[in-house]
Amino acid sequence: MAAITRSLRHTACGARRAGGPGRLAGRTVSRIGFGAMQLERLRDDRAAAVALLRRGVELGIDHIDTAQFYGHGFVNDVIREAIRPEDDVMVVSKVGADPDPDGPLPLRPAQRPEQLRAGVEDNLAALGLEQIPLVNLRRLDTGPGLRAEGDQVVGLDDQLATLTALRDEGKIGALGLSGVTSDGLRRALPAGIACVQNAYSLLTRDDEDLLRLCLAEDIAWVPFFPLGSAFAGLPKVTDEPAVIAAARDLAATPAQIGLAWLLHHAPNLLLIPGTADPGHLEANVDAGAITLDEASLAALDAVPPRSGDIAFD
Ligand SMILES: NC(=O)c1ccc[n+]([C@@H]2O[C@H](COP(=O)([O-])OP(=O)(O)OC[C@H]3O[C@@H](n4cnc5c(N)ncnc54)[C@H](OP(=O)(O)O)[C@@H]3O)[C@@H](O)[C@H]2O)c1
Repeated sequence: MAAITRSLRHTACGARRAGGPGRLAGRTVSRIGFGAMQLERLRDDRAAAVALLRRGVELGIDHIDTAQFYGHGFVNDVIREAIRPEDDVMVVSKVGADPDPDGPLPLRPAQRPEQLRAGVEDNLAALGLEQIPLVNLRRLDTGPGLRAEGDQVVGLDDQLATLTALRDEGKIGALGLSGVTSDGLRRALPAGIACVQNAYSLLTRDDEDLLRLCLAEDIAWVPFFPLGSAFAGLPKVTDEPAVIAAARDLAATPAQIGLAWLLHHAPNLLLIPGTADPGHLEANVDAGAITLDEASLAALDAVPPRSGDIAFD
């Protein structure tokens, strides 16, 4: 049985680092951050959403992933209320989609350069920031969900020109890419890319080459859907028999094992698991203290890939 240590690493000023330190866009952040998309589900209980974010800060989370289209502005609004400048939290947002509350998914592509610029302005206004430290360009080249069609098929170079201009203007601190291929990342490297966000988990490891490219280029790998998401149709890490067995052996939960495996898998990997449940939030932070022994790692590494895509209504 592998040992589980409960220590959280500390920063020089004494704050806890959930999962130990990682690097993102030139800053040191906790390797365990928070994906804010699930807060959409707390739309009718704003106080609970604010309390969840405050609890995350107490637990050492200092990297929050968001988008203006999460909850049609609700999530950014809650972040603005809950997070104070003295918390020193890095709020990372994304552009490339607009809300579509009545759509099969609650968003639609917004890939054209003028839409990217408008998306950055919307995020700045909603979050009450003069600069967004890091903005991900949500491409639709790969991964589950939407694909671009018609006038939403836009060349990467045109999009990067807009986003680097916004960086030159000081409205963006750094650029990331999401939903991108290895060729896309290679093409974008001269623009300076701080992170890549693709769908990736213990069960869906199609992007291993892209992860290695990020590692070689000193780019953070910040997977979305690290547990397989809340969407029907995508395989869930917590349902995987090898994960359940490891959880039983290590007195952890399956979700914690899935997150611990990711942390063990690559040093440039930062976590942004999403939850609307305070107990799950604490469990996800505690996953940073799980040590997986070689036998557990080998069993988890051997899990075969699972296929699936978001099931549209
Ligand atoms: N770049 C992009 O295009 C993109 C796309 C999608 C998402 N994202 C970002 O990535 C983040 C993560 O993705 P996600 O939230 O969709 O999926 P996820 O983190 O893979 O999974 C979220 C699901 O897992 C459950 N969960 C979380 N912690 C758990 C725990 N300890 N035990 C049991 N269940 C747990 C959640 O339910 P409970 O709420 O009940 O805990 C929710 O159903 C998002 O929040 C968002 O910030 C980015």
